[in-house]
Amino acid sequence: MFKAKPVAAGRLPDLLRAMPKAELHMHIEGSLEPELIFALAQRNRVELPYADVDALRRAYVFNNLQSFLDVYHEGTKVLRTEQDFFDMAYAYLVRAHADNVLHAEIFFDTQTHTGHGLDAAVVVNGLHRACVAALAELGITASLIFCFLRHLSEQAAFEALEQVLPYRDKMIGVGLASSELGHPPEKFARVFARCRELGFRLVAHAGEEGPPAYIWSALDVLRVERIDHGVQSMQDPLLMQRLAKDRIPLTVCPLSNLKLCVFPALAQHNLARMLDAGLVATVNSDDPAYFGGYINENFTQTFAALGMSAQQAWQLAHNSFAASFLDEPLRRSYQQRVNAVFEAFE
Ligand code: ADE
Ligand code: ZN
Repeated sequence: MFKAKPVAAGRLPDLLRAMPKAELHMHIEGSLEPELIFALAQRNRVELPYADVDALRRAYVFNNLQSFLDVYHEGTKVLRTEQDFFDMAYAYLVRAHADNVLHAEIFFDTQTHTGHGLDAAVVVNGLHRACVAALAELGITASLIFCFLRHLSEQAAFEALEQVLPYRDKMIGVGLASSELGHPPEKFARVFARCRELGFRLVAHAGEEGPPAYIWSALDVLRVERIDHGVQSMQDPLLMQRLAKDRIPLTVCPLSNLKLCVFPALAQHNLARMLDAGLVATVNSDDPAYFGGYINENFTQTFAALGMSAQQAWQLAHNSFAASFLDEPLRRSYQQRVNAVFEAFE
């Protein structure tokens, strides 16, 4: 294992910002900044229930996942055209690139937008075009993960899958998002089995607010390769053994957990304990426009709150690529860039 040089506490934020990283858990609609929401509302002549950008920002106070999803859903109503999806995703990729994100795996859904009368093609094509443009113009690699909305039915998920299959080559995997409690992974067993046959990589949100049982069923029923969030796994020692033994990555989102009251304070977050237990944890921003920061803010605030080290920074950067769906040669070359930055950092 790479041994990171100790770094003075005052220099650690610079190292966290400079280190190459992958982002594996962010919902593209959660990157819509209030300014872009208002610009798109004007462009598309959509009425917003907020007087201005400041009033919208003031609404970003949440007490659980559902209270956030309600506000987030309002924001998605301004997205109407392929260009809107392009602009949103390109803006995120520019922002991620500035945080030294070399690779992003981006969640999106179509059910929100087809519910607003859009065609699924508008969503997928706009987002994919942004990924292609960002590779050409910024050198950042990005792929798309199509999420089912778990508060909707199994049949609705099958219909959504059918609608995106003509664009199969533009997506690397499928995931499961939206209201967790009361919607266990088992509800989507057959859809995920079909996606597995189709060759999609599989992930699911589990153990954000939901119990360890949801993480077990995401693994054993849906057969996912990564767990999104998974912070509730630490209530179950057997589950922790399983996650460690099978090296199942957890895409942890500390500022999201703070804003949605999963933890009362960042100082109580279990990220460092996960690493100590040998879990393959990663750090991600989830819905950065809503939760007070992009990926580097997640790193710097969490490291400050928990007193984490340069070695843990290296581990998280290394994990982010290990947990990605990159091809092996590119994964290895990105991990070498991580090591080079840690070696050169003074
Ligand atoms: N969709 C957007 N953000 C989400 C989150 N944190 N959990 C579940 N679904 C989401
Ligand atoms: Zn999420």
